[in-house]
Amino acid sequence: MFSPQGPSLRELCVQALSSVERGYDLLAPKFDHTPFRTPVNVLDATAGALDGPFESGLDVCCGTGAGLMVLQRLCRGPITGVDFSAGMLAEASRAFPDATLVRADARALPFSSSFDLAVSFGALGHFLPSERPAVFDGVYRALRPGGVFAMPLGEPAGLTSVSYWTLLGFDVVMRVRNAVWRPPFVMYYRTSPVRAVRDDLTAAGFAVDAVRLADRLTLVLARKP
Ligand SMILES: C[S@@+](CC[C@H](N)C(=O)[O-])C[C@H]1O[C@@H](n2cnc3c(N)ncnc32)[C@H](O)[C@@H]1O
Repeated sequence: MFSPQGPSLRELCVQALSSVERGYDLLAPKFDHTPFRTPVNVLDATAGALDGPFESGLDVCCGTGAGLMVLQRLCRGPITGVDFSAGMLAEASRAFPDATLVRADARALPFSSSFDLAVSFGALGHFLPSERPAVFDGVYRALRPGGVFAMPLGEPAGLTSVSYWTLLGFDVVMRVRNAVWRPPFVMYYRTSPVRAVRDDLTAAGFAVDAVRLADRLTLVLARKP
């Protein structure tokens, strides 16, 4: 659908009717040929805004490893990716053979005071607002004191733009799909506004800051005191 190497419309429909985990397992071999993979310019802007070097790094919901690329640039020590899709982790291990890859649910991260930098790209829409505290508590636990959690977030365009209506339409379709079909596939574009995310990170114990990376793109920086 997106490029000759990307998934067909039929494949995307089958994936969207699966659970999130199974959907990504199916999509994994073609994921890097979709617009769902975080683009290189966002990865570069994030890496450029972070004051490295760091020692160890964690990519939360790493998928095929977009964030591992950032960690490779910024970390002198070991880098780790965590995701619950075995298919996505298999792709990441091919691209980043030196990274440690852990299969786990980001709502119950299995790390304790292990990392100096954590990043997450393009995954927050998979968590309902009520699930964000569990994710952020887990990242907080995973970081050492002084560690930083960095996460770029897009900001919605105005009412008159095509992208406003496209993203709204996508979320409406997903809400209808989730009302009538099991298992659910949680992916909403409009449930993670920067202000709400900052509030949740603050509630988890982080000192939160934000840097403007580009028009409608903010890097949220959360430091564990
Ligand atoms: C849109 S992809 C983003 C992948 C990568 N971070 C990137 O930017 O290209 C979302 C990823 O989040 C993972 N994911 C979604 N919900 C998860 C959960 N509860 N626990 C762990 N991983 C999850 C999916 O398996 C998928 O690999």
